[in-house]
Amino acid sequence: MNHAADVKEVQMLHWWTSGGEAAALNLLKQGLAKQGYAWKDVLVEGGGEAAMTALAAMVAAGNPPTASQTPGSFAIDYAEAGKLGDITSLAIREGWDKVIPKALQKFTTTNGKWDAVPLNIHSINWVWINKAVMDKIGGTEPKTFDEFVALLDKAKTASVIPLALGGQAWQEASMFDAVVMSTGGPNFYKKAFIEMDESTLKSDTMKKAFDNLAKLRTYTDPNYAGRGWNDATAMVIKGDALVQVMGDWAKGEFKAANKVAGKDYLCYRFPGTDGSVIYNSDMIAMFNIPADRRAAQFALAGAAMSKSFQSAFNVVKGSVPARMDVPDTDFDMYGKKGIADVKAADASGQFVGSMAESYAQPPAIAGAYTDVVTRFFHGEIKSSDAAMTELVKALNAAK
Ligand code: BGC
Repeated sequence: MNHAADVKEVQMLHWWTSGGEAAALNLLKQGLAKQGYAWKDVLVEGGGEAAMTALAAMVAAGNPPTASQTPGSFAIDYAEAGKLGDITSLAIREGWDKVIPKALQKFTTTNGKWDAVPLNIHSINWVWINKAVMDKIGGTEPKTFDEFVALLDKAKTASVIPLALGGQAWQEASMFDAVVMSTGGPNFYKKAFIEMDESTLKSDTMKKAFDNLAKLRTYTDPNYAGRGWNDATAMVIKGDALVQVMGDWAKGEFKAANKVAGKDYLCYRFPGTDGSVIYNSDMIAMFNIPADRRAAQFALAGAAMSKSFQSAFNVVKGSVPARMDVPDTDFDMYGKKGIADVKAADASGQFVGSMAESYAQPPAIAGAYTDVVTRFFHGEIKSSDAAMTELVKALNAAK
């Protein structure tokens, strides 16, 4: 499929600006450079929401990138609108359907046609702890939400900022994903966010989940609003704060700062969510582009799905390979746990899509959810009861 007139350049839209993110992406750039492809970043600062707005504009203008980081439900929308390309021949040759969890294939294929590749599996329900601070306050692993609160209290008593939070809507919403899982368990999470069962969304357990979220707010420093997620990670890395609740891209920051798993920092499942993996994935959607750019697109897809790349990239990114046949040899203790957790959760029905990250519901519904959570978190919605009412209203309107 390589012709003399082929354009030897890959354009990729993404929102990876932090140290860990850039280091991971470099590995992909290097892989393509070895095959003679130049790399053109289409970098959108400000996270996924801003990136999806920029992507929509490029697609509407008839000028899509070769590929774009595209959360699952957004990829489905583009596929249904006929905007994605077709890399099925490569997928069949490489047998991707046998190594990628079926849950992810729902987002990377449309009617059996492959149009996206998953670089990884990230998960939301983790906490990241500065070990020296933990030792100083005499803390131990919190196994339940109440133990988590007790640990945060210990930090407060020792005059350490207990919870490093980046107060942006998506960060608050993804923390709420974990809080809901912890408060209600996996079946409750599925009923609420996958089935969107109204009585579940209005239940005492959901009320408790909002109460628990409000409780966490009392452990942040006053300057959390608007803070970037990696600035919050840096607070934990430096020991200015005890803990951050964040997806495992946070691990990429510890790594980029040369911090060692288990020695400099600790990582646990969000208390009360052991056994469950609330996932999202860095999916690269392949757009429908002119014929002379398609060889580059195939090269990108092939490089992204190679076993050695999936190992190297995810070691640096903090995530888990999307391919289940990648050995965990090169991963640190938390990476090994992440890989084992995904396999176990997938087998036990506890591998569930993140509501905040658009892996449980389409983008409009995820957006409505995020909006209610952040308005509650910032005190515009004043009570847990009101938050439940608003949530049901917003989700129904977005359906
Ligand atoms: C992406 C990660 C990224 C994080 C923060 C998530 O939605 O899946 O790859 O590191 O956002 O930018």
